[in-house]
Amino acid sequence: MEIIITSNPEEVCKKLASIIAQRIKDKPTSVLALAAGTTMLGTYRELIRLHREEGLDFSQVTVFGVDEYVGLAKEHPCSYHAIMRTSFYDHVNIRPKNIFIPDGMNKNVKQESQEYEDKIKSVGGIDICALGISEDGHIGFNEPSSSLSSRTRAKMLTEKTRYERSRFFPDGNVPRHVITMGIGTILDSKEVLIAAFGSRKSDIVAKVIEGPITAMVPASALQMHTNVKVAIDEDAAKELKMKDYYRWAYEQKKLIPGY
Ligand code: GLP
Repeated sequence: MEIIITSNPEEVCKKLASIIAQRIKDKPTSVLALAAGTTMLGTYRELIRLHREEGLDFSQVTVFGVDEYVGLAKEHPCSYHAIMRTSFYDHVNIRPKNIFIPDGMNKNVKQESQEYEDKIKSVGGIDICALGISEDGHIGFNEPSSSLSSRTRAKMLTEKTRYERSRFFPDGNVPRHVITMGIGTILDSKEVLIAAFGSRKSDIVAKVIEGPITAMVPASALQMHTNVKVAIDEDAAKELKMKDYYRWAYEQKKLIPGY
């Protein structure tokens, strides 16, 4: 894992956006998988700015949502369809035909999941998967105890997650079921970017980076991936035992030719 420690959340988002932008410039047909949590919103704002002010072109990019609530229509303001549309897709030139998010209204979730996996495969797999992490270490909606090889499927949310997400639901009525890419689906991405900020996330950040790989901390599976960048601010980094080393190593990297 490459650990990037920045002074504040804005820098985390700028860093992530600049990595994504560079990948799109290098490969205009990039396939992105994007999470809808609050952590990523600043990154989307920065990507929108890069599109408007510097002409970052999304016209050939394909995007996949990481997860969606079962039983929420695309138009529901709390659906990840709606959140991704209003916070990102409506403001850049991604073609609607290149936007994929699991359909939470499909009565056959198993079929929806298989078709989602097939669709990802048919476009050549995910180039970059950009994610936040929850305080219990779930990525997408892969709750603790999820199989570390799991594929897109239905999951049942823990009460803790439902409570945590209830801040986005004015009526407090958080769905119990979701459809999410699996950990295995995420691990198949060529590159994974993780963002976290604030002291609220410091405990889980330390477990994900320095703890054992365990299904109880689903994001710890990313330790098995060869191309992961974790961008965090000082607050989120504060419980990392090796943070001085990470900071130093990141600076040193610039001195290695061709790294
Ligand atoms: C949620 C979402 C994820 C998100 C994560 C962190 O439950 N399913 O997509 O990345 O947990 O959320 P946030 O960024 O709002 O802290």
